Amino acid sequence: MCGIVGYIGNKEAYQVIIKGLKRLEYRGYDSAGIALLNGSMNVYKKAGKVTDLEKIVAGKNLDANIGIGHTRWATHGEPNDTNAHPHVSQSGSIAIIHNGIIENYASIKEELTKRGYTFQTDTDTEVLVNLIEEVQKKENTSLDNAVRIALNEVVGAYAIVVLNKNNPNQLIAARKGSPLVVGIGDGEFYIASDASPIIEYTPNVVYLEEQEYVVINRDGQYTIKTLGNVEKSHEIQKLEMSIEAIEKGGFEHFMLKEIYEQPKAIEDSLRGRMNAQQGWIKLGGLTEYINRINKADRFLITACGTSWHSGLIGEYLIEDLARVPVEVEYASEFRYRNPIINENDVVIAISQSGETADTLAAISLAKERQALIYGICNVIGSSIPRMAHAGSYTHAGPEIGVASTKAFSTQISLITLIALRLAMVKGTIPTSKLREILYELENIPKKIEETLLLDAQIKEIASIYKNATNFLYLGRGYNFPVALEGALKLKEISYIHAEGYPAAEMKHGPIALIDENMPVVFLATNQSAYEKIVSNVQEVKARKGKIIAVVHKGDTQIRALADHIIEVPETEEILSPLITIVPLQLLAYHIAIMRGCNVDQPRNLAKSVTVE
Ligand code: AGP
Repeated sequence: MCGIVGYIGNKEAYQVIIKGLKRLEYRGYDSAGIALLNGSMNVYKKAGKVTDLEKIVAGKNLDANIGIGHTRWATHGEPNDTNAHPHVSQSGSIAIIHNGIIENYASIKEELTKRGYTFQTDTDTEVLVNLIEEVQKKENTSLDNAVRIALNEVVGAYAIVVLNKNNPNQLIAARKGSPLVVGIGDGEFYIASDASPIIEYTPNVVYLEEQEYVVINRDGQYTIKTLGNVEKSHEIQKLEMSIEAIEKGGFEHFMLKEIYEQPKAIEDSLRGRMNAQQGWIKLGGLTEYINRINKADRFLITACGTSWHSGLIGEYLIEDLARVPVEVEYASEFRYRNPIINENDVVIAISQSGETADTLAAISLAKERQALIYGICNVIGSSIPRMAHAGSYTHAGPEIGVASTKAFSTQISLITLIALRLAMVKGTIPTSKLREILYELENIPKKIEETLLLDAQIKEIASIYKNATNFLYLGRGYNFPVALEGALKLKEISYIHAEGYPAAEMKHGPIALIDENMPVVFLATNQSAYEKIVSNVQEVKARKGKIIAVVHKGDTQIRALADHIIEVPETEEILSPLITIVPLQLLAYHIAIMRGCNVDQPRNLAKSVTVE
């Protein structure tokens, strides 16, 4: 996610802002910039790290006691110097920094272009700053009121800070869907995406609420209003957390933070791409190639690790819904086994980092053989999306923990939309069923929130099995890839050996492993194969295996058989992985913590495997 820092007061703004941007680096970014006001508006911005920005400003005019700074996590427009924030309005009098997505920026840009505006960047943010300028001119009003009016016209999420060249004694900030904190010092104010750039200067903060904006004046006065122009006052709160804790949003580890971010990450990834009520799905990358994709003889999905597990769910979804043959390939195998690929194939590459060497090599091979390459990645402008013909970004925000969690759930969310979109084109499912699934997909974030409430119970189970030496994870249908993913989570952060298996496959060998020392985790929410999964549970119980079962709320049959049951909200069977993976992520996390493992940086692992 982008990082925002604003300052007005008696200190040197540059130092406060640069230091604040470094405090926000953990959020992940690809470019950085700063605007300082000292008679003139001095804007410096650079692709790369904050240290790269520091290099280009060395020796420049940095005297100022008001300014704004930004670290950009690209959503619209490649990560480069031009698209970096701050963005300045056409007249040069307004500078803005922005965290979020303006969904209707294209239509606003079209209207502004008709009114003579020209644009230097591909960003939605440059559209917003020119909309504000246009509103101020047209309404002949104050800048803060122009900000308010403009924000009432935009659809999407934002946290913004606006700097006015004609008023060096004022900062304006607003938020909707992205957080903003105002630090209140002695005759000075700080604005930031979270408290980490603020805490070393003042513990006194005010949190802007949804759809509120604040006008801050150098004289120490500030006014908070709603976008409906109603004045509000919020209690000043005292920060107590350490800086490091704040960077983790108050969570002990990035991994736990990212597990809890899944509802928002899914909402952000679906935003603007589907509408259950009207029954539409919009995936820009897919639309551009929909004819070729629709004619494809088959899909090949290639990835590694967790992303490969998402791919397996993708196979079930696309074949189940769109009736197109799908093959899922480990990228490391695919690239070397001389596979048969041709121009009638569509190859979907799934990758959180967009830099995994094997996946990159696999699509390079497929591209040489004329297949259409479609990327599903989380890092804008990374190598895989740049090599692909088309693609869709997950908007999970940076995933810092090595163990992938929110990337997995947002990948599945996007693949579900792709499968449904294809089913719409092919007419393989009735519109009523499509809308039913879309409505349920909209409910998934709430159901994950509900599932997260089971954390304490899962921690209790973890304490019982933290010293096990082996685990088995068993699932059927859509829950089979979840069993694989659950086993991988446990392996990679707790160093306990774990295997995921199709539940029915157990009797072809692994059942020999079952005894009173073997915890067996069952994903047993299947509606379509429920009786069969009950039999599998009985087979394990008959051999004294310890059974941890993830079941739908109100389950009775498995409750009677299992040693522990974890009851999750019911959902469409095809969406069940989005729910059933959450208890497994938490189980792995708590066991790893209890074993004293480094959850965010497990031994031997890297966040992105950029070498073979
Ligand atoms: C999953 O928790 C691991 N971090 C690992 O398996 C990862 O999924 C794999 O390396 C693929 O990474 P990518 O999604 O960035 O391509």
